[in-house]
Amino acid sequence: MTDSLARCRALFASGRRVLVGVAGGSGSGKTTLAQELVRAFGDEHGCLVMQDSFYIDQSARFDGDGGSVNFDHPSSLDFGLLESQLRALREGRGVEVPIYDFATHRRLARTESLSSRPLVVVDGTLILDAANVRGLFDVAVFVECDEDVRFNRRLERDVRERGRTPDGVHKQFFRQVKPMHDAYVEPSKQHAHLKVSGVEPLEASMRSVLEVLSQR
Ligand SMILES: Nc1ncnc2c1ncn2[C@@H]1O[C@H](COP(=O)(O)OP(=O)(O)OP(=O)(O)O)[C@@H](O)[C@H]1O
Ligand SMILES: [Mg+2]
Repeated sequence: MTDSLARCRALFASGRRVLVGVAGGSGSGKTTLAQELVRAFGDEHGCLVMQDSFYIDQSARFDGDGGSVNFDHPSSLDFGLLESQLRALREGRGVEVPIYDFATHRRLARTESLSSRPLVVVDGTLILDAANVRGLFDVAVFVECDEDVRFNRRLERDVRERGRTPDGVHKQFFRQVKPMHDAYVEPSKQHAHLKVSGVEPLEASMRSVLEVLSQR
């Protein structure tokens, strides 16, 4: 791993900008891996872009978890804006990332300034499904994880961090998360350059990703 880390650092020092996509089901371990990738190179060399920031504001239509708004369908996300911001970051320009509020399902008026870094890691369930986005990645990773593990992880997170009830999380998972996973997320695995496990130690996934990244 030390060798591939050094090769990646040399790649970044050469002035190249590298985009890494981390896809996979909800609760698979994408954010954990994506954050670790940025951490390995430090904030001055790496940054994280979250698909979740690109939700379309559907607050006017929202009628409860698992209701008529399907947040897991690709049409709930502004992949056009994500594409243009990733292109800008790749060209060395900074962007204004939208801020999405999970409590109110709104896109806030303010944005977050993000300057371009050599390593741009993008985290999202559907980033390999979106045809306009997946082609931008130098390395596309898919984190594999069984449904029961993903459900239990999501339940815990949404109740603790997003103020949801266990009942609402259950309803949303089986009405929307699972069907959308099966229809869009899982099939998008075919576009990944490499697959890693979301249950094995993080170090093993890091080793695989850095190995591929260092050869780009
Ligand atoms: N390799 C791993 N081994 C054990 N636990 C892990 C591993 N990767 C992630 N986890 C744990 O699983 C939980 C979910 O991980 P994470 O938040 O990274 O998933 P996610 O794919 O980003 O989910 P979502 O799409 O819902 O944001 C976290 O509690 C995290 O600590
Ligand atoms: Mg996440």
